[in-house]
Amino acid sequence: MELYIDTANLAEIKEAHAMGVLDGVTTNPSLIAKEGIDYGKRLAEICEVVKGPVSAEVIATEYQAMLKEGRERAKIAPNIVVKLPCTVDGLRACKAFSDEGVKTNMTLCFQPLQALMVAKAGAYLVSPFIGRLDDVAEDGMVLIQQIRQIYDNYGLKTKILAASIRHNKHMVDCAMVGADVATVPFNVIQQFMKHPLTDSGLKKFIEDYKKAFGG
Ligand code: E4P
Repeated sequence: MELYIDTANLAEIKEAHAMGVLDGVTTNPSLIAKEGIDYGKRLAEICEVVKGPVSAEVIATEYQAMLKEGRERAKIAPNIVVKLPCTVDGLRACKAFSDEGVKTNMTLCFQPLQALMVAKAGAYLVSPFIGRLDDVAEDGMVLIQQIRQIYDNYGLKTKILAASIRHNKHMVDCAMVGADVATVPFNVIQQFMKHPLTDSGLKKFIEDYKKAFGG
């Protein structure tokens, strides 16, 4: 299972990268707005650090404008993946980019047919938003399972990128149902290696050793 970080904050990206298990980065307009920095400049900085896929979301919502903006973003670095919304214009742009050999991440996926359509259009990644579905009393994990089943039924190669992950249970469930990738905020990644019994067990081991041998 691949792990991406969901942030535009460079310090967080560097820290997660230093853990040695980071495969890529996703950004979105809200995350960039939070950083208050030029989107292109930040993407270039991120691509210096992370050599795996870095998703750059278009602001445009109309087909031709999406193509123009996506092509500009794709020039920033070879590992840029153009992120497009799961709309009809986004689907058309996905097909055009696939034909041009540019990788795409189809975002804001909330139902299985969006995932089927974008896979047919050659998407590299599809991003179902688990947390936002849970927020409206739906079950985000069911969507991941549905997409997994559909893709496996037809041998569709688009990778399922579980997005909008809020906590460890989301991550465990995604791994159990076979999401190919998860994109996770830094504060959640920081929880992945934590358990109170690890901390107390480690403390006891060291205390026992020091009691016996000093130091
Ligand atoms: C995915 O690429 C999005 O950036 C992200 O996962 C959205 O998550 P949120 O629902 O926490 O904003």
